Amino acid sequence: MDTIIAKVNKENLDEPESKEALYKAAEIIRTGGLVAFPTETVYGLGGNALDKEASKKIYAAKGRPSDNPLIVHICSLDQLYEIASEVTPEMKTLAEKFWPGPMTMIVNSNGKVPHETTGGLDTVAVRFPVHPVAMALIRESGCMIAAPSANTSGRPSPTKASHVEEDLSGKIDMILDGGEVNIGLESTIVDMTVDEPTILRPGFITIEDIKETLGSCKMDPGLSSENANVRPKAPGMRYRHYAPKAQLSIVEGEREKVITKIVALATESEQNGVKTAVLCSDESRADYKILEYLGVQIFDMGSFETEDDIARNLFDVLRKCDDLQVGRIFSESFDTKRLGNAIMNRLLKAAGHSVVEA
Ligand code: TXA
Ligand code: MG
Repeated sequence: MDTIIAKVNKENLDEPESKEALYKAAEIIRTGGLVAFPTETVYGLGGNALDKEASKKIYAAKGRPSDNPLIVHICSLDQLYEIASEVTPEMKTLAEKFWPGPMTMIVNSNGKVPHETTGGLDTVAVRFPVHPVAMALIRESGCMIAAPSANTSGRPSPTKASHVEEDLSGKIDMILDGGEVNIGLESTIVDMTVDEPTILRPGFITIEDIKETLGSCKMDPGLSSENANVRPKAPGMRYRHYAPKAQLSIVEGEREKVITKIVALATESEQNGVKTAVLCSDESRADYKILEYLGVQIFDMGSFETEDDIARNLFDVLRKCDDLQVGRIFSESFDTKRLGNAIMNRLLKAAGHSVVEA
């Protein structure tokens, strides 16, 4: 199939070109087709959430295991009431505080969303995104939109339309190119079907944010690498994911020691004839200069101070390593205050939890 690629100006959806693209995209969703679109977190691959056949097409295009449920994207709080078996006061509080925005709630389903969309579960993941293009598409189509990240299953999530094109061109009807996303890591998932609200996937909205709003919240114990025998509750968090083709290791410890260790490991790897890359912060970029002469690729992802850049660039850099056919990656660890948890969650998964102590 030919995939239509159309630019949309998120600053001005009323421009004729943007309007036409959105009109076309909405029509495709309504008639059972698939459209990739930008959200504030990552690009999503959308189809009508209430249409079993559309959901099946999403799984096929991504090569995604059919037991890994999709998130249903809505554009009004009313739509939560349409698909949840019950909307508790806590859910309402959370929605009022963080929607529209990068938070997904797991709620009990009333059965309206088909099992093809929920991966056979009786719960459903619901998200009300804040990106203008995502909001306009949901509204224009008149459908709730099931959308996983718009990558081939197992590859890093797409933060630019070109990433979607790499993975899904020829497999879906349309890509709306709304430029680079804002956040770069997928939404925070909060399970509201249990006694204590539980984070199944960390993201831009933190556990502290949720605690402040609801009084209590915990992390899914399955997310910690220390509990290797406890499975994460979100099916998608169980797979090795976000994975570059190269073997990735994260080096932890005091900053000076980390740099010395990475220089030693990368030198050895490159001298063994393996194409090697280093992921670092702006602040330590200059310390790896010596590696450049050996041919090691250095990717500075952003400043420790403005951690947002590191989050936004991470998946793009992992994809660049693939493009350059890198065989071995060494990364600094990022324990930034606000986004550190989410960044390290993705990085540790990409590394298959390979950590080196400096
Ligand atoms: O930011 C995001 O959430 C992006 C954009 C496109 O909105 N979407 C996204 O979707 O990351 P996806 O499919 O890549 O990740 C959805 C995650 C998976 O880990 C899945 O297992 C989990 O949500 N999930 C979905 N429904 C669930 C449910 N009912 N119970 C537990 N986990 C669920
Ligand atoms: Mg995904």
